[in-house]
Amino acid sequence: MSNAPGLVSPSTPCFRGRDLAPSGLVRSGLFMVARNARRAPLRCCAPTVGGGVEDHVLGAAATSSKPRLPRVVGMGSKLVGCGSAVPKLTISNDDLSQIVETSDEWISVRTGIGNRRGLTGNETLSGLAVEAAKGALQKAQVEPDDVDLEIMCTSTPDDLFGCGARVQRDLGCKNAWAFDATAACSGFVVGLVTATRFIKGGGFQNVLVIGADALSRYVDWTDRGTCILFGDAAGAVLVQACSSEEDGLLGFDFHSDGHGQKHLNATVKDGETELISNNGAPLFPPKRSSFSCIQMNGKEVFRFAVRCVPQSIEAALLEAGLTSSSIDWLLLHQANQRIIDAVATRLQMPPNKVISNLANYGNTSAASIPLALDEAVRSGKVQAGNTIAAAGFGAGVTWGCAILRWK
Ligand code: ACO
Repeated sequence: MSNAPGLVSPSTPCFRGRDLAPSGLVRSGLFMVARNARRAPLRCCAPTVGGGVEDHVLGAAATSSKPRLPRVVGMGSKLVGCGSAVPKLTISNDDLSQIVETSDEWISVRTGIGNRRGLTGNETLSGLAVEAAKGALQKAQVEPDDVDLEIMCTSTPDDLFGCGARVQRDLGCKNAWAFDATAACSGFVVGLVTATRFIKGGGFQNVLVIGADALSRYVDWTDRGTCILFGDAAGAVLVQACSSEEDGLLGFDFHSDGHGQKHLNATVKDGETELISNNGAPLFPPKRSSFSCIQMNGKEVFRFAVRCVPQSIEAALLEAGLTSSSIDWLLLHQANQRIIDAVATRLQMPPNKVISNLANYGNTSAASIPLALDEAVRSGKVQAGNTIAAAGFGAGVTWGCAILRWK
């Protein structure tokens, strides 16, 4: 257990591990072939690209009588492409000082943030996610038709019910299944490890993992304690089945502790969900609900991150049989430069091994890790074969780490 007393309750279980060969599989060359290829019914939607659903028979592919091919199950999974997208509007610290009592100096010194991006006009979170995913597919040289699964990691979807399927439609991934996953700023790492489970245990070949958030939608722009921190963005990676020798997930470690929820949340507004009237009778129909703005106890969140994240990274490194000195890059959720520096110091990672683009984008929640990864790959910083400790942490509270090999 890598918990510490304080915000996190001592009984929090952790989930970490290496990969065991999935049951129900037989070896065939480099790969395992599923004995019972029952995953095929997941191929359940064949949308018309760009054409919406109006002219499309919903679920047509699911009811087709096409013979199903046996699924090939890889023993490993590796990251083979990444992409990212940010909105056009840049909001500087000086811009914020026009609306709340703050200064560029205060924000830079306390957080390391200089600018952030915000959705405006016709821009949507789904649009950003599509752009980021297209970049990942292009880099991986994988066609939309060859994507089996898309995991949309977000806490701020365009639709309350999720927007993964809409992104799938707009990407033209007509053979894919899509769903949304919510774990706030840990979302991308959670999605990434989930993707590897589908590959190693479920016979999926190509899984798109998208981290996308628009926290600007839930920021209280009159609260200088929070509005300075957040920005909007999307990032994506393509995870692909491979041989066990090429496996790119070396270890992982996850935790959650709802005791910390009171320190960081955006809950359904209490007053609006009141179901009991003054005289004690149930109210019907109930009032329409909405969410409150982000509420945060910055100091508690800071302490939680600095205490728990290094422990989680150390636990994941242990699973991987590695030490911090043997990894190439530390890639943390980009929340505050002081958190990044404190975790790096604790792990004895020198600054030149720490990836940070917080100054340009602020805290973009589930997007921050894939956005920073994409920039680091495109700039040539992260090279094929490099090992990366990627750690997320945030609301819930949730936190965790994945030890990855790039390509
Ligand atoms: N500009 C100027 N002054 C400010 C500002 C501001 N933007 N914000 C707060 N202050 C003032 C406060 O009012 C306070 O003034 P006082 O001493 O007169 O009362 C003083 O600065 C100190 O305020 P603190 O809140 O104690 O400042 P702190 O050093 O803790 O920094 C911060 C605040 C930057 C938010 C820090 O606590 C932090 O980064 N915490 C981590 C937050 C985080 O990572 N959140 C994201 C989690 S990810 C997710 O899941 C969404």
